[in-house]
Amino acid sequence: MTSWHRFPTEIRLTILEFLLLQDGCSLATFTTVSREWQTTIERHTFSRIKLTSSRVADFASIVHRNRHLVRYIWLCLELQEYNCTGCEPRDPELWTLSHAENVLITAAFQDLFSALSVWEQSADSSLLLDISVYSPSDSEHCFKYLTFEPDVTSYMRWRDQSVAQSMLVKATTDHRHGWVAGIRTSIPDSHAIDRVFGEIMSEGPFDDEEEEGQWWQQLPLVPAVTGVLLRQQTRRRWKPAALAHMFSRLPGLQEIQYEPWREWAGVQQRWTDKSFQLLLESLSTDRLRRLVLFENFDQTYPASYMNLGCDPKRIPSSHVSRAVANASLKLEHLSASFIVKASHFFAARELSWTWPNLTWLALTSRLLVPQGGSQTELDDMLQSAAVAAMEMPNLETMELWNGEKGLAMLFRYQRAEQGQGQLAVITCRGTWELTLRPVVLQAWDAVALRHRGQGHIVVKELLDAGVRVMSHGDAIGHLKLSRPVIRPVSLRQIQMEHMIREGLQN
Ligand SMILES: *[C@@H]1O[C@H](CO)[C@@H](O)[C@H](O)[C@H]1NC(C)=O
Ligand SMILES: *[C@@H]1O[C@H](CO)[C@@H](O)[C@H](O)[C@H]1NC(C)=O
Ligand SMILES: *[C@@H]1O[C@H](CO)[C@@H](O)[C@H](O)[C@H]1NC(C)=O
Repeated sequence: MTSWHRFPTEIRLTILEFLLLQDGCSLATFTTVSREWQTTIERHTFSRIKLTSSRVADFASIVHRNRHLVRYIWLCLELQEYNCTGCEPRDPELWTLSHAENVLITAAFQDLFSALSVWEQSADSSLLLDISVYSPSDSEHCFKYLTFEPDVTSYMRWRDQSVAQSMLVKATTDHRHGWVAGIRTSIPDSHAIDRVFGEIMSEGPFDDEEEEGQWWQQLPLVPAVTGVLLRQQTRRRWKPAALAHMFSRLPGLQEIQYEPWREWAGVQQRWTDKSFQLLLESLSTDRLRRLVLFENFDQTYPASYMNLGCDPKRIPSSHVSRAVANASLKLEHLSASFIVKASHFFAARELSWTWPNLTWLALTSRLLVPQGGSQTELDDMLQSAAVAAMEMPNLETMELWNGEKGLAMLFRYQRAEQGQGQLAVITCRGTWELTLRPVVLQAWDAVALRHRGQGHIVVKELLDAGVRVMSHGDAIGHLKLSRPVIRPVSLRQIQMEHMIREGLQN
């Protein structure tokens, strides 16, 4: 038997890191083995921190001298548990968070921002703040497929299988909540949906918006946070105005990834769109570099809101598209899915607009449909996209796409590689063959020349007739977009939900 210390240092560290990725927690106690182990284990343990509301108050002392190692903080705000008297409540008071829950949330923010405010901002390090709000009971009633996970990277993929498996077992038969043998047999009632989509900080602790605004503005500034994640697993709704306040306390913020859900009642959607527009206007600042917006939806829920003016398909507001376009002028990356229409985005363009730093733009367009769409409108949109691209000197990739149950389509422009005689590449990938008219191709030829390419080639890829597109999540998977338009963990959750709900096993 060879001794551990006979291995070269790199091999020892590789083994240790492999073990840490398998199971970080149980190794934490081994920091006392040696200096080497301590350094490696601490670097791993402290780089990603999960904070529950009960631990936020002690956060400063837990992290203490290791704060320079922290790269990611997952703030898990757990709400109260509830039983079946509260899972499909008739009482509108239960459709939002309780006063006590809102108090818990504000206290957590007060403690966290106070602790983080003394962290210095360093030029070369990043700190991602990931905020989740949920009740452990959410997955015990109608929504048995829900999971609440940290923002994990690919090495955790192996775990998915086991999570899915355990949920399939869990989702056995529960007639009361519409489950038979692990398959959902009915669409949840609107009250059950309202319960998990409750609004944060609307029932207290503040008397009105003004008082709430004052509270946010007295929070200490936190320059160390460089990115904020608000993932789709949080069904509870943040008011866009609250987010605008939150972001304004983060002067070092460079990146926002925000995955809100569409509203179900028509009136509420119009109201939310108005405040969303204000939020975006507040984001037109020089510090933000990357913005990824993904509006999630469920194609079955509108049926439960028939008499509340719910559009079966979300109709994005042109005002929001315009505000996103205006905010994009200063960005390096912008992806906006389902919350804007690409045609609105490009129609908002003013003649003076340029995008000096934009390298990646991804937008959804409902004009990308196999039949029943208007070819003229599609041609116009693709042409106006090309006209805008002429004002994006650093653009590397533009992706216009659509995806939902049963369809997927991507139109992608990639600038030519550096060098003589190189061609830009236009890719059309999807579940049908997209027709590109000569006017559209001419417009993109001009873009290729502007970006110093020698014209372009078109690559068409028809997705195999055998591929199943069960959801917008599957569509994203098949389209192979060049960068994530949604967090990989959110994408897997969407795909898994559809798989479990329909009783399909991979
Ligand atoms: C269910 O919850 C309600 C309200 O929280 C509570 O009053 C009731 O006792 C609970 N019922 C059971 C069976 O636990
Ligand atoms: C666009 O953004 C700028 C700030 O960058 C702001 O002054 C202007 O009012 C915005 N315009 C619209 C139409 O939102
Ligand atoms: C583009 O990026 C540069 C370098 O980071 C920065 O100085 C400049 O302000 C940016 N331009 C805009 C319009 O945001």
